[in-house]
Amino acid sequence: MEIVKLLSSLYNEIVPKVTFLPANVTVEFDPATMPFAEHGKQASLLDVAINNGITLEHACGGNCACTTCHVIVKSGDEQQLSEMEDDEADRLDMAPGLTLRSRLGCMAIVKGDVTVEIPTWNINYISEGGASMNMGDAIPPPKK
Ligand code: FES
Repeated sequence: MEIVKLLSSLYNEIVPKVTFLPANVTVEFDPATMPFAEHGKQASLLDVAINNGITLEHACGGNCACTTCHVIVKSGDEQQLSEMEDDEADRLDMAPGLTLRSRLGCMAIVKGDVTVEIPTWNINYISEGGASMNMGDAIPPPKK
């Protein structure tokens, strides 16, 4: 039985699963073979989302310059995602709806099984043209 647990653990490290809420879609990916979507860091939550047809807004192209890729980590401890760096923390401070488990999808590299929620207001906000939702200046208005 121990060998089964060990193999299962190794498999999960090699082929992490990411569940995106609220759609409740789970995808597996092999970081060694998944193509780089060229938005955000390679194997980031954004990279995984784009490679699997999951809509995760990324107004700045995954350059840690907006907060539209904001996600909330629902399960998976800190070892399942890369450690937050200072530039992500600084940018995240501007995210509306910030929580203690918030991350930027373009900066958080997936290292193991994790479940993240894409805030529904975030999905709607950008797709509806970025009009005011009384979130202050956290997200700049769209360019005309
Ligand atoms: S896409 Fe802009 S900060 Fe992540």
